[in-house]
Amino acid sequence: MIELNDVRKVFPARGRGPEVVALDGVDLTVRAGDFAGVVGPSGSGKSTLIRLVNLLERPTSGTVTVDGRVLTDLPADEVRRARSSIGMVFQHFELMDSRTAAANVEHPLELAGVGRAERRRRSGELLDLVGLGDRAQARPAQLSGGQKQRVAIARALAARPTVLLCDEATSALDQASTTGVLELLRRVRDELGLTVLLITHEMAVVKAVCDTAVLLEAGRVVDGGRLDQVLARGDSPLAAALLPAPVADHRVAGTLLRVTVTDTAPETHVLQVLVGRLGLDVEVAGGSVETVAGGRHGRLLLRVTGADQSGLDRALAQLRDDGSRVERVAAEVAR
Ligand SMILES: Nc1ncnc2c1ncn2[C@@H]1O[C@H](COP(=O)(O)OP(=O)(O)OP(=O)(O)O)[C@@H](O)[C@H]1O
Ligand SMILES: [Mg+2]
Repeated sequence: MIELNDVRKVFPARGRGPEVVALDGVDLTVRAGDFAGVVGPSGSGKSTLIRLVNLLERPTSGTVTVDGRVLTDLPADEVRRARSSIGMVFQHFELMDSRTAAANVEHPLELAGVGRAERRRRSGELLDLVGLGDRAQARPAQLSGGQKQRVAIARALAARPTVLLCDEATSALDQASTTGVLELLRRVRDELGLTVLLITHEMAVVKAVCDTAVLLEAGRVVDGGRLDQVLARGDSPLAAALLPAPVADHRVAGTLLRVTVTDTAPETHVLQVLVGRLGLDVEVAGGSVETVAGGRHGRLLLRVTGADQSGLDRALAQLRDDGSRVERVAAEVAR
């Protein structure tokens, strides 16, 4: 479990520059075993937030609690010990180039005073877990980006953490390696029961692995929640960021309708009424539907022609009563 309460982080002014309020009253709860994402534009405070969780950075005010321990109240030596229950994975892997994969994985155990035989056993087991059992003696330069990140994940797991932090862990990887690393993160979460906090600027990453997410903007959490619930809300800025905005050619005639699709409000009912019952001509003018967090979510733009407008309005009111999420949109909005 990770909990941030009213966390502020102000970097003092340097030279003639102003002070920077990187985080401005952030509350965040990640339940044990959840895979949580933090998204937001560059400079919104994502890296600062994740570095606060293991106190690589201390908050200016507010508290950080991990697995029930208020880290911000602990003396320095206990913080160091508590940190061993938190693993971290970085964008650029941060492996030691002169050491083999196995020796990189063993490094945190060495620092913790674990004996050589036990270190060997543990690094072998972890490299097997991440699918690199046969590359134990390779050095980072001999490994691909995806393989390096797997070694870094194995290293992050060496001290048997309960929490894993990932700062842009796939941002330096190509699509295929990204998919592999995300699958691995999901699997280690499942198998080891970890709590994972991942920050990224890539919405596809959140959709692929996260159970929950928050959107940071200028150091504040502006939206968040369980992904299925967030995506079912029509007015959610995080949903708007996660699902591509439907685009329609505004020069073509007809009435545009926006349908928010969820498992409980599928587009089929809307189409049955408009096409089947009212006999209207309906075409899909834009949008997409995808499977996220185990459910179908999306936004579609439908172009309806040949409709009697008051009849259409009655049909839309009825559809909304039925639980469908459909509204008329002005052509300019649909671009
Ligand atoms: N050590 C520091 N000293 C001063 N300012 C800092 C420091 N670290 C971060 N900042 C500032 O805090 C703000 C948030 O930075 P942060 O690195 O957390 O953003 P981010 O969301 O991770 O961005 P990106 O997506 O580009 O990685 C920025 O304005 C940044 O310049
Ligand atoms: Mg960052």
